[in-house]
Amino acid sequence: MTDELVSSWVAELEARHLSDLQFREVSRGLRALSGTYVERREKLKQGAALSGAGKRAAFALFYGPLHFLLVREIVRALQMASPGPSGIVDLGCGTGAAGAAWASEQERPALIHGIDISAWALGEAEHTWRAFRVAGRARRGDVALAAWPKGREGVVAAFAVNELPDAARATLLERLLNRGGAPVLVVEPVARAAAPWWREWREAFERAGGRADEWRLRLTLPPLVAKLDRAAGLDHRELTARSLSITQLPSYPITR
Ligand SMILES: C[S@@+](CC[C@H](N)C(=O)[O-])C[C@H]1O[C@@H](n2cnc3c(N)ncnc32)[C@H](O)[C@@H]1O
Repeated sequence: MTDELVSSWVAELEARHLSDLQFREVSRGLRALSGTYVERREKLKQGAALSGAGKRAAFALFYGPLHFLLVREIVRALQMASPGPSGIVDLGCGTGAAGAAWASEQERPALIHGIDISAWALGEAEHTWRAFRVAGRARRGDVALAAWPKGREGVVAAFAVNELPDAARATLLERLLNRGGAPVLVVEPVARAAAPWWREWREAFERAGGRADEWRLRLTLPPLVAKLDRAAGLDHRELTARSLSITQLPSYPITR
């Protein structure tokens, strides 16, 4: 069922984002966006990732589905959706992919609370949640400062922690580890340059009873995503990521 929803989500993204832009403008945007993530990371904090229609379309059409597929596999492997929490706070939710991936794996999908500094991204997140038939509330704010729902909601932060300044990241770590055992999932790229803080976070999660995993996955990408990948000169036939999590599972290694 979710795979059909992924196809119709991507078709809907294509219809909206490729109505005003040519495919080559989006693939150019994707090249620029991936350059910002890999080589010009300092610009992320100035909002460079989401500046310009081509880059925004690439973010929604390419990274949204890619992150959805990755987070869904991780949630499955860590058994975070059976039964899963009644609410999910999606920090730096962007276009809503991570929360949707987790909630749509649950038999009774959690209510998503998406927080992001980008108003544009929050609008996209609402489309994403509708596409997966999950309920969500989008709120504009800074993840380190915004109030989170008080309860046993799960928390996901996918590809977002590395965009935070040092002080905000330290505050966030404290908050994530004080959730009273509620599930927490942090997903980041494997590239060391993106997360020099990873080791400290990893040790803090492990001391709190959490676990760290690395993922290398061969997933079938939606045809448009695969076409953009090739056109932009990228290669995501194998998807990689690493995660920190607090789950009910014991800390045995999961091989993927
Ligand atoms: C690479 S995107 C990831 C989006 C989404 N989580 C995903 O997996 O596709 C990072 C997101 O974090 C958001 N962000 C960066 N700094 C933030 C902050 N201080 N507070 C809230 N959101 C932030 C950006 O606007 C962007 O949407």
